Amino acid sequence: MANDKYGVLIAGAGWVSTQHIGAYAKNPNVEVRAICDLDLSKARQRAEEFQLPGAALYDNVEDALKHEGIDLVSICTPQHVHCENALAAAAAGKHMLIEKPAANSPGELRRMQDAVQRAGVKTVVGFVLRWNPLIQQIKGRLAAGVLGEVFCVETDYQSYNSDWWGGWEQGRRKDLAVSAMAVAGCHAVDALRWFATTEANAAADPVEVFGYAGGKRKGKAMQFNPTTCQWYEQSSMEYDGLEMLLVRFSNGVVGKVSVNFEAVQPYTFPIRIYGDRGTIRDNRLFAPETTGADWVELPGIRPESSDVTHHPFQAEIDHFVACVRDGVESHCNLADAVKTHEVFFAAEQCYREPRPVRLPL
Ligand SMILES: NC(=O)c1ccc[n+]([C@@H]2O[C@H](COP(=O)([O-])OP(=O)(O)OC[C@H]3O[C@@H](n4cnc5c(N)ncnc54)[C@H](O)[C@@H]3O)[C@@H](O)[C@H]2O)c1
Repeated sequence: MANDKYGVLIAGAGWVSTQHIGAYAKNPNVEVRAICDLDLSKARQRAEEFQLPGAALYDNVEDALKHEGIDLVSICTPQHVHCENALAAAAAGKHMLIEKPAANSPGELRRMQDAVQRAGVKTVVGFVLRWNPLIQQIKGRLAAGVLGEVFCVETDYQSYNSDWWGGWEQGRRKDLAVSAMAVAGCHAVDALRWFATTEANAAADPVEVFGYAGGKRKGKAMQFNPTTCQWYEQSSMEYDGLEMLLVRFSNGVVGKVSVNFEAVQPYTFPIRIYGDRGTIRDNRLFAPETTGADWVELPGIRPESSDVTHHPFQAEIDHFVACVRDGVESHCNLADAVKTHEVFFAAEQCYREPRPVRLPL
């Protein structure tokens, strides 16, 4: 720590990094001291955009980690390099915020966990929706017992993911991005775990997964643009655009979660939570003992956009910095995130040999 502030390295200066840098700029305890991107011009562009003339610029993470005064790293590179970035950050003794998905396989996750444990550094994985205002309102009601005992949860990530996303050229590939769940549906899996327990600041433990994958877009060169209503030629998506999973949790809750990259509609993130005293459907609560005999609307911004500017990165990053400052583990640390990731890695196994998979893997 120099000048009473933690020094931050931004690894990967693409779309999501804009929100990380903007949030660090508003946190009084940190300072962005270095930005790294394979394409140095992108690192430079971010430094200019956020008026950080003093930030050092690097074109590789290993060198950037050696920069003096770096305490924290935001790993904003594409998912297939998260593991190597995290191993390097841990070896250098840096605390890290790893964007989702944290890794591309259970093996990578295990190596990252070992390295983080050995280094004794703090981690947060980028399941930013845990800080979404509506999701926080819902979690607060669950913890206060408004729904009673929760027995069933459903969440869905529905977005026509395509080349409107700058990361698509790599994100559409099976070898680099794994699946629609890994790329983006993981937000819905994490929300499913978050809602499947009434314990505050905790997510439920999945013990079994079963699912199917399908859809019509995989391997097709012609894709639909739902905004312009036109078909056009595009590099094909190499994995199924639809995955639908059933998840059983250790506390007996049963969940259903899907990712749908094929729905021709604006982005939606449906939420259904059923308890023995009430129900939540998106932002509506029905709990006759507390709300009377009608649905009431919950306050808070709904998670209804895929645009990074809509996501609560400030709260996530303030939480990360507070965990480092106070020496506490995050509810969303790597050890917890492994349980979210194992659900969609187990699903890959179900698609190959259609039978339920027990967790942990
Ligand atoms: N939490 C969220 O809601 C959210 C939203 C968007 C993206 N993301 C995640 O953030 C990550 C980045 O996504 P993005 O949309 O910013 O992608 P992007 O393609 O816009 O940016 C990635 C950047 O990393 C750089 N890069 C690639 N390999 C590198 C390497 N080895 N070393 C240094 N730089 C490298 C690229 O040049 C690019 O500038 C992904 O894992 C994605 O899933 C999360």
